[in-house]
Amino acid sequence: MTFIIAIDGPAAAGKGTLARRIAETYGFHHLDTGLTYRATARALLEAGLPLDDEAVAERMAQAVDLSGLDRAVLAQHHIGEAASRIAVMPAVRCALVEAQRRFSARSPGTVLDGRDIGTVVCPQAPVKLYVTASPDVRARRRHDEVIASGGVADYQTILADVKKRDDRDMGRADSPLKPADDAHLLDTSEMSIEAAFQAAKTIIDAALNRN
Ligand code: DC
Repeated sequence: MTFIIAIDGPAAAGKGTLARRIAETYGFHHLDTGLTYRATARALLEAGLPLDDEAVAERMAQAVDLSGLDRAVLAQHHIGEAASRIAVMPAVRCALVEAQRRFSARSPGTVLDGRDIGTVVCPQAPVKLYVTASPDVRARRRHDEVIASGGVADYQTILADVKKRDDRDMGRADSPLKPADDAHLLDTSEMSIEAAFQAAKTIIDAALNRN
């Protein structure tokens, strides 16, 4: 039996870094499910197709290749924005969730991070983490990342953007972002990534011992 670790949370909460580190530590496969939405959005944008035609977006979602996902190519802000828009469409979600579920069955274990892993994609996962941080802290981290990589960033613009993305991801009718009832909450507002990792590790080790 495959061991699944589901990690959900809002944008820029640190779940990606945490998920990668957990996957490395346990030798599990990792899927950043946000990239599947981003890849679908990018394919639509590149083909000059509309973002609001559900049937067209569904076909793009069905064609996404999970082995070719690269955050460096998909990180741009306008792609994240477009991804959040197409993510409200049930047909798009259905196609991507199917691919994500197939991935989650890989042996010996998998770590999936996103918005609806513990609630919809893998509700049977023995470990569910909900990683969050206040909008201010998340905007500050994103701002500092951009500056550190030599870019230009305005904190107020980023904060407004973080809040807008939260509203869309938490407010949509299909699979809104929310913690599963049995998720462990990790608020990283005042926690280093190292402390968050140690807290996650304690939870995972306990579950592995039970299995
Ligand atoms: O995590 P991210 O910024 O790469 O995600 C981009 C968008 O994709 C996000 O705003 C909402 C959507 N998404 C989703 O609806 N469900 C997921 N499991 C992952 C991402």
